[in-house]
Amino acid sequence: MDTRKGIAVLGSTGSIGVNTLSVIASHSDKFAVLALAAHSNVDKLEEQVRRFRPRLAVLFDEKKADYLRDRLGNLDVEVDSGLDGLCRAAVYPDVDLVMSAVVGSIGLWPTLRAVQAGLDVALANKESLVMAGELIIRPDRPEWGRIIPVDSEHNAIFQVLQNQQRSALRRILLTASGGPFRDWSLDDMRSASVVEALKHPNWKMGPKITVDSATMMNKGLELIEAHQLFHVPVENLQIVVHPESIVHSMVEFHDGSVLAQLGIPDMRVPISYALAYPQRLPNTLPSLDLFSVRALHFHSPDHDRFPCLRLAVEAARCGGTMPAVLNAANEVAVQAFLEGLINFLAIPKVIEATMARHMAIPLDDISVALEADRWAREYAGTTVKACGGVLRDVV
Ligand SMILES: NC(=O)c1ccc[n+]([C@@H]2O[C@H](COP(=O)([O-])OP(=O)(O)OC[C@H]3O[C@@H](n4cnc5c(N)ncnc54)[C@H](OP(=O)(O)O)[C@@H]3O)[C@@H](O)[C@H]2O)c1
Repeated sequence: MDTRKGIAVLGSTGSIGVNTLSVIASHSDKFAVLALAAHSNVDKLEEQVRRFRPRLAVLFDEKKADYLRDRLGNLDVEVDSGLDGLCRAAVYPDVDLVMSAVVGSIGLWPTLRAVQAGLDVALANKESLVMAGELIIRPDRPEWGRIIPVDSEHNAIFQVLQNQQRSALRRILLTASGGPFRDWSLDDMRSASVVEALKHPNWKMGPKITVDSATMMNKGLELIEAHQLFHVPVENLQIVVHPESIVHSMVEFHDGSVLAQLGIPDMRVPISYALAYPQRLPNTLPSLDLFSVRALHFHSPDHDRFPCLRLAVEAARCGGTMPAVLNAANEVAVQAFLEGLINFLAIPKVIEATMARHMAIPLDDISVALEADRWAREYAGTTVKACGGVLRDVV
């Protein structure tokens, strides 16, 4: 009998997915890859299937899934496609833990399916928590699976909170690198190119989250994620810019003690913690060398240059469907920026315009979040189309 932990990796061809498989490859005595899923990257998924031999491989794109099926020939692996395939991968037989690392709101479905099936979810896909955290994290459903956060900040907080008295938590200090434009003026940001926005100083990540880091929407989404994961009021969540990305976040307790988790900025650390939780896996990554780091800096974020932070706080305070609208409008605006349709500073404008037209309602069902997501995509898309050229020039 195979006693290894059965793993499904959703988003296996992306930055988090590849790092997850590299951790698994170093501990093949502990983990068995049972299902892999991606969007359309046939070459990379084929390579991963040949190496890790899952029982199920999914490409969301149906045509690409057909190519993959042909290429895998008589290898003993089933190939599936679409949202059904993605959700099947999330609850595939014998899976114990799902690495939810697809990018964007599509991650909501497989994440929800997995927790409902009682499986542990290592959650990188923050968008699903932003959209519908209160429907995914259900303390009233003890039979649902656990969420172990992968985002380095939330993973840090999760680690710090182990065996702590939760009622003694006073504040969470969520650290932020500040992204590639941390020290840029608004004038410089106005003409920022896609290439410049994709140059993150500390982390190597997929394009969407890298642009989110440049606008600091990533920290805004993480604030909502922390609010949902740790049930901390928005007022008790403080964003702290920390350019070195060594302190991954901190928790202040009501006796004034502040506990932090530190480490080198490498996603394989939180990924391995999430995969092995509650154990810790050894690795050969370099140790944190404080003598070469020398100094750690902390300062408050600039809400004027990074209006996405204010929009995220507003969405979190409003609650209901507003965070889903913020998230969807952001996805549309970031994509438009990546395609050269709008300039960098237009991203928050598109989000703000979409939020301003939305009347939030309570999230009593997943369909409500999905409808808000659909509406916001349409509205933000129309905004981009109608005034993309104008926004390019005026903001
Ligand atoms: N990268 C990081 O360091 C980091 C840190 C914290 C949190 N996160 C979060 O982790 C998630 C993934 O980020 P990433 O940087 O790894 O993104 P990425 O490099 O862009 O990878 C995205 C992955 O999702 C897959 N995908 C996209 N749409 C899909 C769909 N409809 N069905 C199935 N698979 C789909 C992609 O497949 P294809 O390759 O085929 O397109 C790819 O495997 C995001 O939510 C991000 O916010 C990332």
